Amino acid sequence: MQSLDSTQTTLKQRENLKEGDCLQALSQQNGQGRHGRIWSSPKGNLYCSCVLQPNCPSERIGEIALLIGLAIAESCNTATNPTLKWPNDILLNGKKCAGILIETTDMQAGHINTVVIGFGVNYEHKAHEQGTTLKQHQTSHESLDEVRDAILSNISRYYKYWQTCGFAEIRKAWLGYAMPISTSMSVKIDENHISGQFEGIDKAGHLLLLCDKSSKLKTISSGDVFLHDTTCD
Ligand code: BTN
Repeated sequence: MQSLDSTQTTLKQRENLKEGDCLQALSQQNGQGRHGRIWSSPKGNLYCSCVLQPNCPSERIGEIALLIGLAIAESCNTATNPTLKWPNDILLNGKKCAGILIETTDMQAGHINTVVIGFGVNYEHKAHEQGTTLKQHQTSHESLDEVRDAILSNISRYYKYWQTCGFAEIRKAWLGYAMPISTSMSVKIDENHISGQFEGIDKAGHLLLLCDKSSKLKTISSGDVFLHDTTCD
């Protein structure tokens, strides 16, 4: 454990990745966020990437994204009252505290062999004014290591459950942490923004958005959600 360019980039470059491989850095010089954004990575926060080898159809990647978000939200401790913003940002009191980057590195014939899951949790430092930290909230975790151990154990638990029992119960648990139905949001898909209301997620974990313009329910499998009452991305 040391300062690295990025746990995600470093792990992806390794050969013969095995399920359960995990890399943590104390800080990162070039932390990677979703959609090519930079993830601010000073010492004092959690930066980890780990390997899963789900051997599942590529369409199920969204389910993995949601189960990881659920595992991290639960690890924040319920007293902090975490909320999940689709697909997997963790908000405390409406502000972003943790983010997840999921990248498939090995796929064959529509099947995912290897996926690298990167997660960053703001424990001591927030990345910007619209962010927050776990320490600012009533978490029972007394150290960064405790947070990391709780997250890894919850990921392992939910992942095993998903492999044997499927996504239905994970979806229900995810919705238990989701923002209220009818929350206003806009979703950026490629260069287009669609405004609407959050209507939950479907059985595959896709976002359901009631579009303001058309009044139709749209199913969205990938995009970037922006909430209207915060500038949190
Ligand atoms: C997001 O944009 O919300 C996702 C952020 C993911 C950041 C984590 S920190 C550990 C891992 N290494 C990286 O370079 N990125 C991910």
